[in-house]
Order: sequence, then structure tokens, then C-alpha cells
Amino acid sequence: MSVLLEIKDLYLNFSQDAKPVEVLRGVNLKVYEGEILGLVGESGSGKTLTALSVTKLLPKAAEIASGEILFDGRDLLKSAEEDLRKIRGAKISYVFQDPATSLNPVFTIGEQLIEGIELHQKVKKEESFDIAVAALKEVGMPAPKDIMYAYPHQLSGGMKQRAMIAMAISCKPRLLIADEPTTALDVTIQAQILDLLVHLKEELQLTIILITHDLSIVAQVAEKTAVMQEGQVVEYGDTAIIYRKPSHPYTQRLIDCIPKMSGHRI
Ligand SMILES: Nc1ncnc2c1ncn2[C@@H]1O[C@H](COP(=O)(O)OP(=O)(O)OP(=O)(O)O)[C@@H](O)[C@H]1O
Ligand SMILES: [Mg+2]
Repeated sequence: MSVLLEIKDLYLNFSQDAKPVEVLRGVNLKVYEGEILGLVGESGSGKTLTALSVTKLLPKAAEIASGEILFDGRDLLKSAEEDLRKIRGAKISYVFQDPATSLNPVFTIGEQLIEGIELHQKVKKEESFDIAVAALKEVGMPAPKDIMYAYPHQLSGGMKQRAMIAMAISCKPRLLIADEPTTALDVTIQAQILDLLVHLKEELQLTIILITHDLSIVAQVAEKTAVMQEGQVVEYGDTAIIYRKPSHPYTQRLIDCIPKMSGHRI
């Protein structure tokens, strides 16, 4: 299988009071086409900043000091802002933890979907409506045509997250980066969203980076696992192998934290 995204030796600093603080300290990561990579690690280990670095969606004070981010063989860190804008949303898209902050309350779901579609695809108005409805269907939204006219506050938490995922996939990206997509949801809805990600991987041959601090989620859906600690990937490999034989003590600790269910781990 071919490598879709490769991060090589990525260093990132925050300039604080003129004194730079190093938060990513040589991140190395490979994401293979058509796979789900689970990116785990405790709060502050650098998961989100690694994800945002991919398309340089970084806070102002953050600066990438060195490294390479190869997407489909091309170094995104060397790409012009204009090219990155074309890649964001079209080839690489994001889903974040809290749909409430990503959805605009004053526009309908349909308007927001259509805006994204028209930004990246040369299509006529009616066509973009149909693409939007198809995306809502793909994510298992009930009554997708009616939802087009609904405002975010009329949707439940799980439906909002489905709408966000519909937006993320509406331009048929190759890579979806989901940063804690289920953390704000209750457990049954969490499971449905995870099932949806697996479904999308299979149906759309989508490659997914699934960021979470919950190793049991990764164990359920991800072929590969990367464990971050203090700005570095300290463990990377097949999820099944890492589970059976973690090579890093920090990974062992994460595994030990998973509650045992009916006598054995998930
Ligand atoms: N805007 C910022 N200014 C200064 N430091 C920051 C900023 N954003 C993040 N950091 C620091 O960078 C480090 C990595 O942050 P990051 O958000 O990538 O962690 P994370 O692994 O995603 O954590 P979480 O699980 O809490 O989301 C943290 O130690 C954090 O303090
Ligand atoms: Mg984060």
C-alpha cells in the first residue's frame, strides 16, 4: 500500500515573550492510503498541532522550524499559501471535537454545505444542492433533504457531528483528519460516529487520521496506531501488534488505563 502522508522530523515552536518554546520535537509519522491511523497521547502531547501543521492552519505564534510534510509525494511546507488553500477542504479536510463552534448558527446546514462545495468544485447551483444531499445521505443523516433547510440548533449533537462530517467529505477529500470527533458525544452516539468513519473509509477509500486520547477507540477502528508524548511520536505500528506488545512504557501505561470489560480488553 502506498504512503499518502508522511511527516518527517517536524519541529514546531511557540514564541512566548520572545523566548521560543518547542512543542513538536521531531515528529515522524506515515499514513497509508485507505487506512485509519489512530493518533493517541495525553493532553498537550502535540496531537492537534501535528494535525494543523499538515495544511499550516496554525495559530499565529506557532512557527514550524524544520521538517517535511509530504502529501502524495509533495512537500506541503514548501507549498504557497494559495496552493494550500486549494488543498484544504478539497484534498485534506478536518472534523473537530465541537460541532457547535464549527457550524455557523445563522446559516442552514444546506447553505453551509453548498458554500464549501462551490468553493472547491466548479458546479452549477442545482448540482451543488444534489452533491450536498448526497453527502448528507452518505453520512446516514435521516431525511437529508429536510436537513438542508434546518439550522444547526435544530439538530442533536450526533446529527451536528454527522453534518460536519458531511461537510468534510462533500468535496471528496483523500485525507480526513478527525480531531477528537466523538469526545463531546455520549457513548452510544460515539459508537455510531466511529462506525460511520469506518463506513466512509470503506465506501470512499478515504484515509483517516483519528485523533483521540482514548486508546480503546483506536483499538476498535484503526489499522495503525501512533502514540505521542511530549511532542514526539514514541510508538508507531500495527494497532494489533502495539496492543499485544507495546515497546514503549508510556504505551503500556495507556493500555493499562483501558477499563477491562467482562474479563478481557476490547
Ligand atoms: N496557542 C498556543 N500558545 C502557546 N502554546 C500552545 C498553544 N497551543 C498549544 N500550545 C502548547 O502546545 C502543546 C501541544 O498542544 P496540542 O494542542 O497539540 O496538544 P494535544 O495533544 O492536541 O492536547 P489535547 O489532547 O488536550 O487536545 C501544549 O503543551 C500546549 O500547551
Ligand atoms: Mg488536541
